[in-house]
Amino acid sequence: MMNTENLMRQAREAQKNAYAPYSGFKVGAALLTCKGLVYRGANVENSSFGLTVCAERIAVFKGVNAGESDFKALAVAASGSGLIYPCGACLQVLAEFTSELAIYLAEGREGFRCFSLNDLLPLRFSLNQ
Ligand code: THU
Repeated sequence: MMNTENLMRQAREAQKNAYAPYSGFKVGAALLTCKGLVYRGANVENSSFGLTVCAERIAVFKGVNAGESDFKALAVAASGSGLIYPCGACLQVLAEFTSELAIYLAEGREGFRCFSLNDLLPLRFSLNQ
C-alpha cells in the first residue's frame, strides 16, 4: 500500500531528474494509479522556452501511454521551501482523466499539504456540458 510520505519521497526523487538550466526551478511529480502503480515526472525545459513541459504533465502522459488512466493521488515537490501550486494547464490535463484526485504539495523539507483537484481547479473546461 502506497502511503503519502512514500509518494512524496518519489516526487522528490523525480525532481532530481529535472532538466531546468534556464529557470533553475526543478519540479518533481509522482502520480499514483488506483492499481498502486506510480508514474514519475520532472520538468524538461528547452532553449525555445515555450516548449518546456511541466513535471506533472510528463507524469500523467507517461501513465496514460503505459495504459493507465485511473489516477488516485499526485505528489509534487519543487525548488524552494514555499508551497508551489501546479499550473492551470497541468490541472486541466489531470482533469481529463479524473475529477477526484488528491494532490499533495510539498512544504518545506519534510512537510506537505493536501488539496483536491476540485480545490485547485473548481471551474474547468469540458466539451461535455
Ligand atoms: N513547472 C512545472 O514543472 N510544473 C508546474 O506546475 C509549474 C512550473 C516548471 C516549468 C519550468 O520548467 C519551471 O517550472 C519554471 O516555470
